[in-house]
Amino acid sequence: MNDRVAVVTGGIGGLGTEICKALARAGRKVVAADLASRGERVDEFRKEVASFGEQIRFEPLNVADRKDCASLIERVGKQDGPVSILVNSAGITRDTSLRKMDATHWDDVININLSGVFNLCRLVVDGMTNQGFGRIVNISSVNGQTGQFGQTNYSAAKAGLHGFTMALAREVARKGVTVNSVSPGYCDTPMVRAVPEDIRKQIVASIPVGRLGEPREIARTVSFLTDEDAGYITGANIPVNGGYFMSF
Ligand code: CAA
Repeated sequence: MNDRVAVVTGGIGGLGTEICKALARAGRKVVAADLASRGERVDEFRKEVASFGEQIRFEPLNVADRKDCASLIERVGKQDGPVSILVNSAGITRDTSLRKMDATHWDDVININLSGVFNLCRLVVDGMTNQGFGRIVNISSVNGQTGQFGQTNYSAAKAGLHGFTMALAREVARKGVTVNSVSPGYCDTPMVRAVPEDIRKQIVASIPVGRLGEPREIARTVSFLTDEDAGYITGANIPVNGGYFMSF
């Protein structure tokens, strides 16, 4: 059952791109779903994954838009078949201290990072339980476990994913469907590169491994959790953070 269909939201992003490649290497048929408005990045992505041929394709998606989500899952169902693997990797930051945060900073992060996961899971869960197989992986963050200055919105959304993951894992545990989260630490992605350099250097200095994580190291963990033989891991959170917790 190697050619199962996988949807990766945020699929052309810093982590999403490597997740798509890892799943394709495992033989999955991968749909990289992301904002069509990221035009240049869409073109770059297509070139980057060209060697995978038809095994990876791009589909436009705004995870915060429920109609858009429904239309994506319908299109994928018609073209490829039912979704067996869903990786929720779409996420944004709007970092600022709470005293300066406006409602838009809050709403955007919650709508994309948390409600987006509800939107997609809601649409695929029945198909997965009917197939008797499913793998859902939610990309959370170390900052959903520790909190981070300037991230009340992001930390709340990412911590929310842990509760969501465990609750849904219980609901589908007897139907062959697993639901887990992966909590990356600071990785070499555009999101982390956007953190002011002085702050980023301080953060890297506090990581026991002494460097940022590589996106492929996150992708490796996601691929592991989506394997056919990973059926006994559910409701778990796997931190992949270079030993960051040991600093506390
Ligand atoms: N701890 C304590 N104090 C801090 C601080 C920190 N980490 N960061 C800033 N401060 C202090 C400043 O020194 C400043 O002090 P003074 O007022 O005495 O000068 C004050 O707090 C600044 O407060 P502001 O309310 O003005 O803060 P701000 O609204 O300008 O926000 C910030 C600052 C943009 C949040 C900045 O601190 C920042 O970028 N921090 C990094 C946040 C971060 O790590 N984001 C992760 C992004 S990557 C990611 O999220 C991926 C993942 O999953 C890991």
